[in-house]
Amino acid sequence: MPPSLRAPRGTRDLLPDERAAFARVERIARDLAARYGYRDMETPLFEQAAIFERGIGAATDVVEKELFRVSPSRGEEREAWALRPEATAGICRAYVEHGMQTWPQPVRLSLSGPMFRYDRPQAGRYRQFWQWDVEAIGDAGPAVDAELVELGARFYRDAGLPDVEILLNSIGDAACRPAYLARLVAHYRADGIHLPELERRRLETNPLRLLDSKDPAMAEVNAGAPRITDHLCPACAQHFAAVRAHLDAMGITYRVEPGLVRGLDYYVRTAFEFYRRGEEGQQQALGGGGRYDGLIELLGGKPTAGIGFALGLDRVVLALAAAGTGAPAEAVPVAVVVGADPGNTLDRLRIATDLRGAGLPVRADLAVRKLGRQLEAAVRDGAQFAVILGDELAAGEVQLRDLDGGSQKTVALADLPALLRRKVRAPGAP
Ligand code: HAM
Repeated sequence: MPPSLRAPRGTRDLLPDERAAFARVERIARDLAARYGYRDMETPLFEQAAIFERGIGAATDVVEKELFRVSPSRGEEREAWALRPEATAGICRAYVEHGMQTWPQPVRLSLSGPMFRYDRPQAGRYRQFWQWDVEAIGDAGPAVDAELVELGARFYRDAGLPDVEILLNSIGDAACRPAYLARLVAHYRADGIHLPELERRRLETNPLRLLDSKDPAMAEVNAGAPRITDHLCPACAQHFAAVRAHLDAMGITYRVEPGLVRGLDYYVRTAFEFYRRGEEGQQQALGGGGRYDGLIELLGGKPTAGIGFALGLDRVVLALAAAGTGAPAEAVPVAVVVGADPGNTLDRLRIATDLRGAGLPVRADLAVRKLGRQLEAAVRDGAQFAVILGDELAAGEVQLRDLDGGSQKTVALADLPALLRRKVRAPGAP
């Protein structure tokens, strides 16, 4: 019978093996962020709900259906809060709040942590998931757009997923999108076109989203829809051409996808997503991002350009596990301290503590059991050596047994740290 107390639906415990796989991709992300000049920051896990409503857009799925709203159960504050569904709105709120417009521009920021969306849980779609997010705020592009796309692509390559495809689009701006939307709505309202119920409603609130509808009945209707890239104003068209020219100059391969519109309202111009090759149709992007030149102003700042991306770390770890790569080696002790006197846990713990204080990965057997059982457990732990405490301890000596080869010798306690330090294997080495 399953236990009645369990993790909430759509959340997961990361047990040590999976946590280690996460730590590995987080380390790759952190190293890349530093190499590209993006400085790590944190925002609260919850914010005023208005930040997401205003920033992401009230008519988006993320806000309308998926926002985890929270309210204090007591106290003075009457704020309506929500758990952060993404990092961009909070980072831009912090940019305005802390006067980052006075810093040298662009301000390059990076954040890695859990996000929350009350979505229908399924494989690769969780209610708590992890993103690595980077933002370059205060640069209108187009070169920085290409730099970011290349950074995302490099992350997947470095993490061990070489088959990731980049989908790229421009979704115009306030100058050209209204006229395009009017054409799009006219297309969907034309005689003979039948829209499913959900799409009929969306046509009123957010017509762009019909282009990336998950409903198979929409495929044919969308195939004949006007393409935004054919209706960009000269400034947006020029920006898009320049982004592509910069990507071409770096030798980055991408596919222009006119149906790529992204699910958040703040985007203008450049939009992109990363998919595993052949999985584009499954709504399971590994990551995505784009330009949001109006967002800082929406959140109370001066008009400021910005662009960024967020990569879903859960999906990367899942893809690596499916490919059988990326599992880091288990932490193995170089030695376990065991003793001839089953009840003398005091000396075992004391000597293990001294060795750990000297920087060595060492465990102590703290069970009250015979030496033979302690040695068996040390072998099961994968330790290379057993430090055996016996009568010689009174003279400041111990027995050091090589658990691989079986040889044993008497060693002065004082020499032990230096001796073991030479034996510590690099993680992952045989
Ligand atoms: P997003 O496309 O909503 O963009 O999310 C980015 C990535 O987070 C997705 O491609 C996916 O890998 C992962 N993700 C999203 N929802 C879930 C979920 N329920 N379970 C697991 N993974 C998920 C943003 O969040 C934007 N803030 C990106 C951005 C940054 N744009 C500009 N700057």
